Amino acid sequence: MRLLFIGDMVGPASIDLAEMALRRLRREGSFDLVVANGENVSVRNGLAESEYRALLSIGVDVVTLGNHAWDNHDIYNYIDDASRLVRPFNYPPGTPGQGWCLVDTGKHQVAVLAAMGNALCSALPSPFLGIEGVLADIKAEGIRHIVVDIHAEATSEKVTLGYFLDGQVSAVLGTHTHVPTADARLLPAGTAYQTDVGMTGPYESVIGLDIDLAKTRFTTQRPSRYRQAPAWPGVFNATALTLNEAGLAVDIKTHQFILNEEGGLL
Ligand SMILES: [Fe+2]
Repeated sequence: MRLLFIGDMVGPASIDLAEMALRRLRREGSFDLVVANGENVSVRNGLAESEYRALLSIGVDVVTLGNHAWDNHDIYNYIDDASRLVRPFNYPPGTPGQGWCLVDTGKHQVAVLAAMGNALCSALPSPFLGIEGVLADIKAEGIRHIVVDIHAEATSEKVTLGYFLDGQVSAVLGTHTHVPTADARLLPAGTAYQTDVGMTGPYESVIGLDIDLAKTRFTTQRPSRYRQAPAWPGVFNATALTLNEAGLAVDIKTHQFILNEEGGLL
């Protein structure tokens, strides 16, 4: 089966950007499942219900979240009813939402699991401590196709999780830094791995942030109100996987497009 993972989407226009990029990619072949990290789609981060529904309408099957999951308070109105929305599993018990979800592609049942790192990123319990128990629950249902979004800052934490889960899951794909890494590969026991898939959002930006605002933050060393950069041109980053019947990866390929507002390639 073929699966596409779209890296951190930034800003409402990233939905149009992803839709145009998906149209391009599908000319080369269809995908059985599309996953996107959507924690920064709202203007000031987070994900409104209308944006979640828009993502599903353009062909995204599962939306993952991270540390910005709660920035748009609309999330509390719908997260418990959003069957295709996944926030990191390692939030404390009682946190709204779910840490993984199951999708029937028609060929396979696929589990999408979100985890968040705690090195330089969050104060959550380490994802290493609970993830094997969650995977045991998933595998108890006979699921062999499992995709893990590791939302984390530290490259070492992500690489280690990749090796930690090698052979146990189909893929460990990193999000959060918004900068794509050139290490997409198949690990020795068959898990696809990439430290960060990269961002889908404003191309001329500092990881999605307005460039002048970023300069001000670094030169004054003081916080300032978040402002996304102009949406266009947009950069689309996604990683495509091919999985075998056993749920292991046989191919991983990265894709990057820089598109204007009309969908033309730059
Ligand atoms: Fe994040």
